[in-house]
Amino acid sequence: MVVIRHFQIPKRQLGFLGSSLSSQQQRTFAETASEGKKKGGPLADQDRIFTNLYGRHEWRLKGAVERGDWYKTKEIIEKGPDWIINEIKVSGLRGRGGAAFPTGMKWSYMNKPSDGKPKYLIVNGDEGEPGTCKDREILRHDPHKLLEGCLIAGSAMGACAAYIYIRGEFYNEASSMQVAIAEAYQAGLIGKNACGSGYDFDVFIQRGAGAYICGEETALIESIEGKQGKPRLKPPFPAEIGLFGCPTTVTNVETITVSPAICRRGGAWFASLGRPRNHGTKLFNISGHVNNPCTVEEEVSIPLKELIERHAGGVIGGWDNLLGVIPGGSSTPVIPKSVCDTVLMDFDDLVRVKSAFGTAAVIVMNKQTDIIKAITRLISFYKHESCGQCSPCREGTSWVYKIMTRFVHGQAEIHEIDMLWELTKQIEKHTICFLADCTAWPIQGLIRHFRPEIEARIKSCTKAIST
Ligand SMILES: Cc1cc2nc3c(=O)[nH]c(=O)nc-3n(C[C@H](O)[C@H](O)[C@H](O)COP(=O)(O)O)c2cc1C
Ligand code: SF4
Repeated sequence: MVVIRHFQIPKRQLGFLGSSLSSQQQRTFAETASEGKKKGGPLADQDRIFTNLYGRHEWRLKGAVERGDWYKTKEIIEKGPDWIINEIKVSGLRGRGGAAFPTGMKWSYMNKPSDGKPKYLIVNGDEGEPGTCKDREILRHDPHKLLEGCLIAGSAMGACAAYIYIRGEFYNEASSMQVAIAEAYQAGLIGKNACGSGYDFDVFIQRGAGAYICGEETALIESIEGKQGKPRLKPPFPAEIGLFGCPTTVTNVETITVSPAICRRGGAWFASLGRPRNHGTKLFNISGHVNNPCTVEEEVSIPLKELIERHAGGVIGGWDNLLGVIPGGSSTPVIPKSVCDTVLMDFDDLVRVKSAFGTAAVIVMNKQTDIIKAITRLISFYKHESCGQCSPCREGTSWVYKIMTRFVHGQAEIHEIDMLWELTKQIEKHTICFLADCTAWPIQGLIRHFRPEIEARIKSCTKAIST
């Protein structure tokens, strides 16, 4: 048994210990904390949650404890499920896996009287969405922060175990995670009487085999059960019938990992970051045509332009050389430069411009990009990853890919642009899971903002053939 001593954490992180606000007062504070705020960022150092994002420090237990992980975890657990869930609700945390569902509400579905069946927490580390590479940084550089989050979330739900599902290609990440789990068992932090709290909690790793669809929560459950990763029809939802037929919550790696900081510093602290309804800090991946592609933790609601210029060294060729940005992972609709000039990186502002925050994986394209070809490449990915259960997805993704390929070469007719739009509308919302929608949205974004480019491509090709 490893004895944990000498904690070195900033005073500000001790929020929950010194907090004298009632939960009602905290809720009121949280609702008003960010009122009137017009934008987020830059994030102050003392508000940073991921203090080892770049792996510059020791990721093992000793280093994690020195950075403030596993601090008074027992006291947090002893405050009980209602207190933990209330803190998460007050924080305004919304799922970081793409769907943005309020986390506190999701956890509360599991906080119900036991019917004798075990309950499970599943941590989704499949991370297959092109452009998204944030969870892997947590898995390899901050595995103890994730483990502590599993324990706290698990105790709030009354779960007996957590399964951390890690994308097959993430070999090093799974190895670090396994070492961290062994350390935590040895130190008595998880397992029987976890942290001395009287609560028993096991953690297992399940490695995937590289299928994007296994990131969808019910396909992931099937995969852990040893079946083909194919999404289930809902309802029933996993909170009723999930893993092995038992109540289950599937939550993204980042969502779980921020929960200890929220419990320690208080939900109101997290809620004070970002605009109303768009709270907290977020890991952003910035890739594509920027001078310094990177992953960075920033405040939600930071302007897109500020994010790119402050952290990624700006667009290659300068801001005026920007063509467009895919703001939240490859399935979110592209937005053109005119929108990028002013849009904020949060849930509401990106919906306002008909795109989505998604996983906050920002893919930057400058004017040297063949945008029709780029979107077609993404469609080829989704076509390949369709599990084939639903006709609109199985057939539709192939059809739209074939049409898009003809658009790339200008071998199409102008009226086919509307036909393609209509096809995406027939695919959208007509299938078991959202993979089909992930194929439809990038095409809709392309037609919405780059129709003149598609028309010009077709016209130039038609002219070339006729002369
Ligand atoms: C095709 C598909 C792939 C997905 N891949 C992931 C993934 O890799 N990681 C993830 O956290 N969520 C993924 N999701 C979303 C999950 O189904 C689920 O909503 C999420 O894990 C919930 O976590 P959150 O509430 O913390 O956001 C995917 C969804 C779909 C439809
Ligand atoms: S939408 Fe596609 S990936 Fe999802 S279940 Fe249907 S066929 Fe499978």
